[in-house]
Amino acid sequence: MTISLPAGSPMAAANFIFGVGTSSFQIEGAAQSRQPSIWDTFCNQPGAILDGSDGTMACDHVARWQEDVELIAALGVNAYRLSISWPRVVQRDGSANTAGIQWYIQLLDKLAEHNIKAFVTLYHWDLPQHLEDAGGWLNRQTAYAFRDYVDLVTQAFGQRVYSYATLNEPMCSAYLGYDIGMHAPGIKDKAAGISAAHHLLLAHGLAMPVLRKNSPDALNGIVLNLSPCYPASNSAADQLAARTANDRLFAWYLRPLLEGAYPDLLATLAQAEQPPILPGDLDIIRQPIDYLGINYYTRAVYRAPDNNTDSAVDCDRGFVEVPPAAHISRPAPLTDMGWEVYPQGLTDLLVSLQQNYTLPPVYIAENGAAIADTLEDGQINDPQRTAYLQSHLLAVDAAMQQGVDIRGYFCWSLMDNFEWSLGYQKRFGIVYVDFKSQQRIMKASALAYRDMIQRRTAQG
Ligand code: FCB
Repeated sequence: MTISLPAGSPMAAANFIFGVGTSSFQIEGAAQSRQPSIWDTFCNQPGAILDGSDGTMACDHVARWQEDVELIAALGVNAYRLSISWPRVVQRDGSANTAGIQWYIQLLDKLAEHNIKAFVTLYHWDLPQHLEDAGGWLNRQTAYAFRDYVDLVTQAFGQRVYSYATLNEPMCSAYLGYDIGMHAPGIKDKAAGISAAHHLLLAHGLAMPVLRKNSPDALNGIVLNLSPCYPASNSAADQLAARTANDRLFAWYLRPLLEGAYPDLLATLAQAEQPPILPGDLDIIRQPIDYLGINYYTRAVYRAPDNNTDSAVDCDRGFVEVPPAAHISRPAPLTDMGWEVYPQGLTDLLVSLQQNYTLPPVYIAENGAAIADTLEDGQINDPQRTAYLQSHLLAVDAAMQQGVDIRGYFCWSLMDNFEWSLGYQKRFGIVYVDFKSQQRIMKASALAYRDMIQRRTAQG
């Protein structure tokens, strides 16, 4: 099975970026050479991680980084999206961990030797534990600590980085981490989720001028996870639920970042749930950004809560997500995450963002599928993943044909890795990792992605 771009696609242009992505905690291992992070602590909580695993070894990338850069180069991609582990580069007292910084510098230099652009995310969820001990994202000071860390690390990196993202998916940090408690630090409190979101947005706003100062030639922006929200039925109640979910989970970030205002839903929150906004905060948050990174995996379908059967928390929130099995009338493919394969949602999302916001250029910073891969005769045949990538590239192409300015696409992920609360059970890589031997093997989808990129280069 191959991947191909439609004839005349703007994605065939040589300056359209094709990349692969990873994040620090998910691949690095070498936990002993950095400060503990909230994910180390969370992994130690009984029952928090499906398979009881943790990130101490992960893909052993800190030791195997050279082999991994060769692998990225062999894919022929123009770009690699990685994240910096804050606890690896900063000590408890806020001073630099020189060994950690040097490790990243040699990696960045090796990428440059291969002409691979570095897309660096500064926060992909691994907050230093000692900052969590002081309140984490519930403490406004964490936003200032983030700014200082960004200043330190971006000065050290000099001009080696093509693009910075301040945060990856602040919604997941805030909502999954502090509201529903599915992710580190595992807090279950709606008001905490709203407060964390505000401090994360503030951290972004404080870091942007630092990035412009230290790395003026880089593309500096942020990466959000966005799903188009569909009502489970045409009823007014379900439509309201879908709008409420969109406002709480997605517009809650987009509007402050792009327009300097929270959605109107803000006014409906109880006093105790209001975000801790100080005068001037929204001006700090609304910074010019060079690009918006968007992570897309699937659509989301919502229904109104039922006062008789749903929990008080759901009723108060105003929306309940409907799992695909309950809303798909005809059989549709699901990934190993149980997520519906719905490429049309990506086109719908991009076109609606274009209609509703003044958008900067867009990069699809993550897109991919978890499949229950099996190794047979030394090979991994994963046609479902290849089909997923193909259909989503067509969805990106369709949005570009409708005028959305999309500059690049990153497949998640370079290799199988630690999939957060699901541990090592979900394989998102286009490269297979045998976690016992740490052997890497390109899956058929990696070969298809590589061949598509190679054909484009040959034609260009
Ligand atoms: C995103 C995360 C990424 C990975 C994918 C599957 O939410 O940014 O680290 O876990 O989901």
